[in-house]
Amino acid sequence: MSANEHADDTAHLAEAGGTLLLRLSALLRTARTYDVSNQAFQRQMQEFMAVVRRVLDEEDEVALAVVADYFYLNGVRIKAHASVLGAYHSLMADFERRQVGGLRFLQGVDEAEIERFFQIFQAAEDPAIAEHLAETLTEAAITNIVTVPAADLEVDDVTRDLSDQPKQQTERARAKKVFWRAVLGTKKIVLRARQTGRPDLRQAKRLVQPIVDSIMKHEYSIVGLTALKDHDEYTYTHCVNVAILSIGMGQQLGLPRQTLADLGVAGLLHDLGKMAVPGDVLRKPGSLSDEEWAMMRRHPIEGALMVSRMPGMSVVMLDSMRACLEHHMNYNRTGYPEVEMEWGQATMSRIVAIADCFDAITAHRAYSKRPRTPFEALQILLGPNRVNFDPAVLWALVKSVGLYPAGTVLQTASGHVVLVTSPNPRDGLRPVCRVLVRPDGAAPPEDAPELWEPMPNGDRAIRVLLPEEYKAKTADLLAA
Ligand SMILES: [Fe+2]
Ligand SMILES: [Fe+2]
Repeated sequence: MSANEHADDTAHLAEAGGTLLLRLSALLRTARTYDVSNQAFQRQMQEFMAVVRRVLDEEDEVALAVVADYFYLNGVRIKAHASVLGAYHSLMADFERRQVGGLRFLQGVDEAEIERFFQIFQAAEDPAIAEHLAETLTEAAITNIVTVPAADLEVDDVTRDLSDQPKQQTERARAKKVFWRAVLGTKKIVLRARQTGRPDLRQAKRLVQPIVDSIMKHEYSIVGLTALKDHDEYTYTHCVNVAILSIGMGQQLGLPRQTLADLGVAGLLHDLGKMAVPGDVLRKPGSLSDEEWAMMRRHPIEGALMVSRMPGMSVVMLDSMRACLEHHMNYNRTGYPEVEMEWGQATMSRIVAIADCFDAITAHRAYSKRPRTPFEALQILLGPNRVNFDPAVLWALVKSVGLYPAGTVLQTASGHVVLVTSPNPRDGLRPVCRVLVRPDGAAPPEDAPELWEPMPNGDRAIRVLLPEEYKAKTADLLAA
């Protein structure tokens, strides 16, 4: 095979890999709700089979493996673009829960086998079944779908192209790892709290620690990652974003390391009480009725109650309870819940409240035309809404996310169009950027991105562009 053909092949597989992940995660989601005989499942299965067949036309098998936080299809790494991130991480959790490192679909696999397989795979959410997954599949006469146990896989086993191996980790790559671990970990904490009625604070502390470490080391890529808005996993990314932004602000306010860790936990758990709100009210796209609003407005109290159920008593527990209870109260006491007696938001609650609003404003919302940009979010918080917030903490927000927060697209005096990827706390006007368009109108090649770490001193932003004004898929670039 020539080098060119090889490169073609690799690109082809990487592309098919993304589609495969999306189809597989959709199929698993459907299998959770519907029986395999149901039309909804059948439809998803056809979509999934179409991709499998397409790969099998060219290759001996479809081998999907997960190693060291990456998926590989027949040895080629599948890029975690923004459009597949949700599937990427939910599948990773699905595999992990079943102690599966890979799935192989062999020539000859058909619909009947796929149906039986997914019935068993779905049931293997139960650890008792997961333990005997391979034997159960053999008993069900499934011969063309083979599971590979997680423990058996090493990166070298699955990579076809050696140049594709993860390089020396950059700060951004490290930050991404910490970020997605925190998202998956938060999901576990929330799902577990659903069963026990209370969150595992120790676990939350473990997740927050690496975030505190990066920020203490002045590595701010992790703050830039809060600009990623993952639709599928939004509930959990929101918690992690609020934790990161809170820690960033806390550091600007000079809080000591231990307090930053407690603040991170409080940020992570601030919306825990939403578990007590019915799902259809939480996800309702339009405006809420009075009764639904009343349910929604109980989440601060419910959250504080859940945290209070932890055995023992500790500072982090009290801080988290207050952050749950007070994050919608507002600095000027115009929010909820209403309290009869004299009451002021704790410092941590004031920090969490601002982190929460900043992240929520930029989130995807079914009822708005497009999500607001992080720059617009800053304008809202610093504009008429500022009376709701502690001015010192608002200042800390600007210091930690910069005047042009990650996700903002800027036109500069030198004629460049750039995407802000991380803040630069030493100079809020000159963030870390990726060039989208050069002054001559050309875009830098995708495989050799032009990065400004940070924006050069001689240049400056002259205009903030709105999403309507540029074509670049900034979400994919932020996730890259
Ligand atoms: Fe909330
Ligand atoms: Fe929130």
